[in-house]
Amino acid sequence: MSKQKSAESDLMQKVVSLSKRRGFVFQSSEIYGGLKSAYDYGPLGVELKRNLMNEWWRSMVHEREDVVGLDASIVMHPKVWQASGHLAGFSDPLVDCLISKERFRADKAPRPVAGDSLPITCADKGQAKKYQEAIGKRFEIELRREGTRLMGMRVIDDATVGFFEDGGEEPVRTFPYRGYVSPAFGSPFLSEERQFNLMFRTQLGAVDVMGDIAAFVAENKEMDQKELRAGIEQKVKDSAVYLRPETAQAMFVQFLNCQQTMSMKVPFGIAQMGKSFRNEITTEHFIFRSCEFEQMEMEFFVEPGTQADWLEYWRDRRLEWWRSLSNNPDKFTYRAHDEDELAHYADACYDIEYDYPWGFDELEGVASRTDYDLRKHAEHSGAKLTYFDPQKEDPETGKNGWRYTPYVIEPAAGATRGVLVYLLDAYHEETVTDAKGNEATRVVLKLHPRLAPIKVAVLPLIKKDGMPELARELVSRFFKAGINARYDEQHAIGKRYRRHDEAGTPYCITIDGQTGEDGTVTIRDRDTMEQDRIPMADALAVVQERLVNS
Ligand code: GAP
Repeated sequence: MSKQKSAESDLMQKVVSLSKRRGFVFQSSEIYGGLKSAYDYGPLGVELKRNLMNEWWRSMVHEREDVVGLDASIVMHPKVWQASGHLAGFSDPLVDCLISKERFRADKAPRPVAGDSLPITCADKGQAKKYQEAIGKRFEIELRREGTRLMGMRVIDDATVGFFEDGGEEPVRTFPYRGYVSPAFGSPFLSEERQFNLMFRTQLGAVDVMGDIAAFVAENKEMDQKELRAGIEQKVKDSAVYLRPETAQAMFVQFLNCQQTMSMKVPFGIAQMGKSFRNEITTEHFIFRSCEFEQMEMEFFVEPGTQADWLEYWRDRRLEWWRSLSNNPDKFTYRAHDEDELAHYADACYDIEYDYPWGFDELEGVASRTDYDLRKHAEHSGAKLTYFDPQKEDPETGKNGWRYTPYVIEPAAGATRGVLVYLLDAYHEETVTDAKGNEATRVVLKLHPRLAPIKVAVLPLIKKDGMPELARELVSRFFKAGINARYDEQHAIGKRYRRHDEAGTPYCITIDGQTGEDGTVTIRDRDTMEQDRIPMADALAVVQERLVNS
């Protein structure tokens, strides 16, 4: 591994470890061995996530006259997902490697071409021997072992791979080729592709689907396995509902209600944030990709023909917003989708990307979704999801007044992915020298003060001489003003400062012996470690001012 790469994966490990140590993110159901790819946001994590989502809401809804909010139910009518295409299209082709049992998405697999050799790369020599034997037994060929690699397979053409002896020009045996190999091992020995729906399916109400299935099986004993399976699948589908895989669809479905109740004029948006669920095949990079996650999405309805300008407008606004809360704005960028990357409903799309430890990757999509969604929901529901602009001339008739289906620009961001981005962005280590001249590493989470879980820690220097009472009085002043403050008297003052540096607390206020004498306290800045002495009576105003100006 290169030095840079190892430093990057080091950063990820440090962030995962700090997340656990300081109560940002825990593995779900940890005492039972954990649940794969599910995470719980701990005492500090829940604050950070809410602060991030509240900042988004502030900038997308409260600060705009042209956007309104929505909080829709997670389980919607199943026809929503038929209309949106999620039931038919939200599925990935899945394949298993017959040797290693690795499961992967066919559309993301490496695609060697004619003439390429296909080394099967194993984790160690023991595994290479095991796989050599397994391949020998199953396919009657003996691949050559070269350290951890199994050699001899080569792509012949689009549909065939062959086993070649060392130096041989003609294949000893040929096998069908699917056009790709397994990502981890490079194996061409693969199962059939199977479609896998990413939506979580469940049942609503007291439907006894098991009873229906049992009756169906009893009545159809003569059916073969394939027919039975299709019949059972239909029974399950008939009564199934789904956990939403995106928050977006509710905003299309509630387009008319929101527009009419709030008398919104196009262009206008509907924003929503909350949980989404996807049965992801590959969950990766801690909370980057998980099965349960939170999104912050906005559907912005515009006049047909104006979508290209609005797409650029929202791309720039969203990029600016992510940067405004970060320490390293240059780590955020955007990338236009290539034609073959575009979703079926989009005529253009940008990804806002962040430079993660593994490289640039998606943080938010800003898509131009055309009028696809409103049209589809109108078709399936029979509702008239259009907008009438009495001021505009209808381009077809030339008459005053234009009724049209609005086009949509959608900035769709990951809130939980945003939490990971800002933890990575904020993690900082520096060498400091203590009062005795010893060097130590200070870990500080340089979270933007508006994102910081605790805004101010109030610390009595010692647990006597009236200091705890004064500290508690000050904390209650912060609470009354709606500022999340924390009283903290555990351990020596230096240790408490370090703990709050790691928690990302921007300000620590210390009540000391002088407070009782002249009513002053010290306020310490997390990033510079500078301390100012200010009147305790001004502490609330000082913190409020610093938060507003941060
Ligand atoms: N409505 C459009 C939509 O949902 P998306 O690109 O699939 O688009 C938007 O999702 C954002 O949601 C992504 O950019 C990402 O930040 C976040 N996201 C998607 N799948 C995720 C997952 N499995 N885990 C965490 N975040 C996810």
